[in-house]
Amino acid sequence: MSIVGTKAARHSNLGCVPLVAIQKENRSGRPAYAAGQGTSNSEAVIVAQDVPAFRRARGWQQCVVFAWGALAFLPVTFLAPQVITGAFADLNGDVADVLGTGAILVFFQMLAITPLITIGGPRWFVPLRWWFGEMFFFTAITDLIIAAITTGATFHGGFLARTTGHTFLLLGTSAALLSVPLALTSSHHAQRALGRNWKPFHRVMTYLIWALILLHLLLLFGYNGQRFLQAVAGSIPLAFLRLPVVRRWWVDQRKRHGWQAWWLWLAGIALAALFCAGMAGLVREEVFKGVNAFMMHPVSD
Ligand code: HEM
Repeated sequence: MSIVGTKAARHSNLGCVPLVAIQKENRSGRPAYAAGQGTSNSEAVIVAQDVPAFRRARGWQQCVVFAWGALAFLPVTFLAPQVITGAFADLNGDVADVLGTGAILVFFQMLAITPLITIGGPRWFVPLRWWFGEMFFFTAITDLIIAAITTGATFHGGFLARTTGHTFLLLGTSAALLSVPLALTSSHHAQRALGRNWKPFHRVMTYLIWALILLHLLLLFGYNGQRFLQAVAGSIPLAFLRLPVVRRWWVDQRKRHGWQAWWLWLAGIALAALFCAGMAGLVREEVFKGVNAFMMHPVSD
């Protein structure tokens, strides 16, 4: 079905991209343009943010997107009073807990968007993938800057000691820095410029950051450390649903059997439970430490 000439097409910022491609899903559940089938370089990637899908969404769906997206401001907001008042001693203790945990939560929400499309099909929330990516960059770089300035009491030495003095610090710093090229190339203009290379580039960088974060936590807390296990629990469903064979099978079953595919419900609930089990501990930590930091009553552990 072509939507050229419709309200959605008129409101689109995609210029001359043939919008008919937006409506078509291939067998893997991705729109034809996303797989680069029969499209030019720029058409293949230009709608990765899928703003038109959001514009076509109902009012309540757009409200969900705004409310969900606004949550990404919380980590930085929690630390704002300490930053504004220059409470460096408190920041030394709180920055990794509040911004580190906040950054990983934002990152996992970004990673969750693609599996959600695989599971359910709708795309109205896809712009959140771009938004959470930008907010991950903002949160991680803020974490790095504050850590580089305020953690001298914990990591003795200069700027380099505070950012790269231990392997786990080097990994955290690398993960934060790798978000810079991602953020710089997330615009439509950059997508056009990079053409077909844009998607593989973003995919590889994202997976690299993912691995660095897991290693950061592994070195900090050990293989049976709570935070590491929580991050692994959150990662398993996100990685599993990205496997091409799983993704293809899921989309195929969903299209053939619809809501009656009880096996998809069963698998979906099990994967969601594992994801939520991992996220629950991180969310609890973020809210507890974050609220206390905001009230200027830092909690040391
Ligand atoms: C992509 C960016 C990063 C993410 C996602 C991240 C994630 C995390 C998480 C989830 C924790 C566990 C917090 C807790 O105790 O509950 C943590 C701890 C820590 N992070 Fe990071 N981190 C990042 C970058 C950094 C950077 C840039 C530094 C410093 C240069 C750093 C230094 C630390 C330290 C020292 C801890 C231990 C805090 C403690 O237990 O007291 N992290 N990080």
